[in-house]
Amino acid sequence: MSTHAKLPHFSDLLPAHGTMPQLEFAADIARAESANTRIIPVLQEDGELVMPTSPLTSAEVYRQLESLGATGKLGEITKLVSDGVLYVAVGVGEDGLDETALRRAMGAAARALKDSTNAVVLGSYGIRATVEGLLLGGYAYNGLKSADKATPDTAEGEKTAEVEGYSDTPARRPLVTVIGDEADRDQFDAAVTVANAVALARDLVNTPSNLLYPANYADIATAVAGRCGLTVEVLDHDQLREQGFGGITAVGQGSERPPRLVHLSWASENAGTSVALVGKGITFDTGGISIKPAAGMEQMVMDMGGSAAVLAATSAIAALELPARVDAWLPLAENMPSGTAQRPGDVITHYGGMTSEVINTDAEGRLVLADAIARASEDHPDYLIETSTLTGAQMVALGKRTFGIMGSDELRDQIAETAREIDEPGWAMPMLEEHDEEIASKVADIKNANSDRFGGMEFAATYLSKFVGETADGEEIPWAHIDVASPAWNTGGPYGFIPARATGVPVRTIVETIRSICS
Ligand code: BES
Ligand code: ZN
Ligand code: ZN
Repeated sequence: MSTHAKLPHFSDLLPAHGTMPQLEFAADIARAESANTRIIPVLQEDGELVMPTSPLTSAEVYRQLESLGATGKLGEITKLVSDGVLYVAVGVGEDGLDETALRRAMGAAARALKDSTNAVVLGSYGIRATVEGLLLGGYAYNGLKSADKATPDTAEGEKTAEVEGYSDTPARRPLVTVIGDEADRDQFDAAVTVANAVALARDLVNTPSNLLYPANYADIATAVAGRCGLTVEVLDHDQLREQGFGGITAVGQGSERPPRLVHLSWASENAGTSVALVGKGITFDTGGISIKPAAGMEQMVMDMGGSAAVLAATSAIAALELPARVDAWLPLAENMPSGTAQRPGDVITHYGGMTSEVINTDAEGRLVLADAIARASEDHPDYLIETSTLTGAQMVALGKRTFGIMGSDELRDQIAETAREIDEPGWAMPMLEEHDEEIASKVADIKNANSDRFGGMEFAATYLSKFVGETADGEEIPWAHIDVASPAWNTGGPYGFIPARATGVPVRTIVETIRSICS
């Protein structure tokens, strides 16, 4: 029996969602008899193929894999049929069967599965990495493509023997049974819960902005909350104005679609520690009057990735019953240029009274986050973690896959370490003392953009730091800002357990961080 509730499905809440393999757990090796496919991790040692001994394989399979040229290189797929069973061998590379290699390899294996597959895999190499790899790597989003036009993600460098009877049509939902000990069942359920949460974040981020805007996003968050036992409160445009959320209303005022602030909360009966989560929810970022260039602007559908990660992580934390109290804040707005849009030079008053001079309307994320961070701080949480697709400078500093973490030294470093352990690459970045001077404005408390481009990611962190409040003891709340501008969205093809488009980063980092600070 599972000790916690599984995360429910949310696929009915959006016009389209990604597909994933269907996973089952079986505590019985005999289950392998009825499967037509076996997923076999293989290793590499000194460039040579090594096959771990396993009840699912044989010396004959090893011989055939060798003759097909399999090397065990990480992510390499080799297929063969022996005795009527399809073997999908996946390389885990030179580092042995560690969690990271296994998760990436299982991602590649999931993409290599075809139609109507009834596959088995041994869970004994690592239940969590196996489940996360298969579900996360097997995720594919085809949006609103007509069914006959959906394209499969083809595995790179796939080596295939002539395989009869296995069609090359795109996989719909292959079934994979993970075989383990009865004692592994809880771990299996927990891993499925986390993977489903990542899929929820991906689905939201993948949804085009004509179909996802502040009002219906708030409705979806409310529905998710209802299914997960979270308390929810949504502030509409009038309430935001009345209560002084000047950053959220300034960014939202250029759009026909008014802004919202969603507050979700969940508390375990054993909650000792309280954590506030804040996520940027710009449902589309044109830049506003400081408009962005046309090339690539379509990618700004992902500018609500921080809020999606926070919503998904909060749902997972509740389903896993982590011993925490979580208050999640999602400021939602669409950043549009229009006759009612805010202008460069405007001075706005945030929730709590701080004022900002708007130098650049494209630095809108920090304006909505400022209000949400100020409001979250009012409850004096023990920790505050905020995440956002905040700056192009993140990519310049850290590249496409590695997010930047700034904030209080200890929490920042802890998140960076946790992130790398679970293979969501993250790196601690400093706050720069020059920005404390450069942020000054002649007409407001601070300005929202620097006059030069240097350290743009760190400048944004300095801006956000001005809104972080105090704990009940009068100390600065330990806080962290996670800039996922590039890691939240994969512009290339799938790799490891990361699909094209929305990645769901940093859902797992948030869940694991809360697991460690609240245990
Ligand atoms: N949403 C963008 C940041 C972004 C850029 C995310 C590229 C993902 C990919 C953000 O609102 C933005 O436009 N930031 C500006 C800030 C600048 C005007 C100070 C930027 O980074 O250029
Ligand atoms: Zn912007
Ligand atoms: Zn933005």
